[in-house]
Amino acid sequence: MKKIIVAVDGFSSCGKSTMAKELACETGYIYVDTGAMYRAVSLFCIRKGLMSDTEMNEQAIGAELTTMLLEFRTNESGKSEIYLNGENVESSIRTLEVANGASRVSTLGVVRRELVRQQQLMGLNKGIVMDGRDIGTVVFPQAELKIFLTASPEIRAKRRMDEMKAKGEAVDYESVLANVKERDDRDVNRTESPLRKADDAIEIDNSNLTRTEQQELLQKLFAEKTA
Ligand code: DC
Repeated sequence: MKKIIVAVDGFSSCGKSTMAKELACETGYIYVDTGAMYRAVSLFCIRKGLMSDTEMNEQAIGAELTTMLLEFRTNESGKSEIYLNGENVESSIRTLEVANGASRVSTLGVVRRELVRQQQLMGLNKGIVMDGRDIGTVVFPQAELKIFLTASPEIRAKRRMDEMKAKGEAVDYESVLANVKERDDRDVNRTESPLRKADDAIEIDNSNLTRTEQQELLQKLFAEKTA
């Protein structure tokens, strides 16, 4: 069977990573969560004092990026986890503070150019499922299968809230919804690689799809492209 590149793009909290991870697991492909890379850069910048709530120093961030090493390593359960300069930061990057920082650092050209370069290297041998915002448009415009996943902001806020509640975090729906919309707005309106559907991407709105229905659809599309 021929090996391909699968690009999964879409808004935050659409279930991109669940979809991409399951497909990678079924096909034996490598899974790459590019959002985790932007989150790791955000954590790096927060820790180094390169970003405050209101300001970012693009020049200093660009200079410091050369001292930042990002890697994915597979843990004993087979799950891919991100490491920042040798430290496992998989759970430290999942906070709201880091997510908001990621949404901001991802607007910087200097950050995007470096991460895109690293992502393109990971895809040299194909056999990869990568999720993010610009995978089908910038990272792999030649990807054989491109999915653009969407769901309404209300449904995504509800899903995010359920996840946070499950982790024991206190949440209120209106502020989660406002945060979803704010991040959507930044993703779509930034000058550098804004989130948009590639012309040849297949749009899937999963607002009313079960996880099984969504996965069956994806398997069918994958089978068509690799036949
Ligand atoms: O998917 P996520 O929520 O983990 O992504 C974190 C942030 O990184 C989000 O604000 C969008 C940004 N991002 C991006 O700009 N490009 C990507 N390829 C992946 C994520």
